[in-house]
Amino acid sequence: MRAFHRLDDFRQYRQGVGRVAFVPTMGSLHEGHLALARAAREYADTVVASVFVNRLQFGPGEDFDRYPRDLRADGEKLAEAGVDALFAPDEDELYPEPQTCFVDPPDLQHLLEGACRPGHFRGVATVVLKLFNAVQPQAALFGRKDYQQWMLIRLMTRQLALPIEIVGIQTVRAPDGLALSSRNAYLSPAERAEAPRLYRTLSELRVAVLREGVACCAMLEEEARQSLDGRGWKTDYLTVRQRADLQTPSPASRELVILAAARLGATRLIDNLEVE
Ligand code: PAF
Repeated sequence: MRAFHRLDDFRQYRQGVGRVAFVPTMGSLHEGHLALARAAREYADTVVASVFVNRLQFGPGEDFDRYPRDLRADGEKLAEAGVDALFAPDEDELYPEPQTCFVDPPDLQHLLEGACRPGHFRGVATVVLKLFNAVQPQAALFGRKDYQQWMLIRLMTRQLALPIEIVGIQTVRAPDGLALSSRNAYLSPAERAEAPRLYRTLSELRVAVLREGVACCAMLEEEARQSLDGRGWKTDYLTVRQRADLQTPSPASRELVILAAARLGATRLIDNLEVE
């Protein structure tokens, strides 16, 4: 696997290869990222991954400084997963001057995750467009654990007419159901034992929604939320939404997704579950 830290060097490499499938990451890689890297092979002969912890998508007081970074270990995992090139730009390569030009995603950016983390999706969209410009991929793969991010990147790509296929890959879970996430590394052993409750709560809520019907969503959400908070979680949101636009479902809505973000101690976990 080739590794590049400078944009010019990467661009030179890019000129020599054909179709590229791209996996953007912030590093601290786990099986979820590696599943994206392996799936990428189906979309192109050359697979490129990036590792870049993007300051723009972190709010004040969030975990930018303590976000786990281990580029050597990440490189080894990506090479093992069959990635051809790693683009891990230094911060001043991607942001050589203060970034004053941003991608402003559609209103969906202000819901749920965006309401809890103002400016987050503007930072994500801006860096993803920059990475797309650098990597020039034909396909890009994202994890569906970050459901709203995946939706917004699809929207951005479509509305800005980028010739890139956006692929969403199912969440990879630990055997006890916990969605894999780089932030799981922050959990103490006791918190790690408690963490699968988030997925269990989503699964139970899904069963309840299917049984009671969409009209009861608000009541069922509230019960689920109280049950989590009663066990020491601090729920930011736990809600049933329409898959198409993440709005509150109407009685006629059929395609639903349950999305949640909740804090366990100092760690904020997110997860989601589609309702079939
Ligand atoms: O999902 C992530 O890891 C990040 O938000 C992304 C897409 C790499 C942009 O920094």
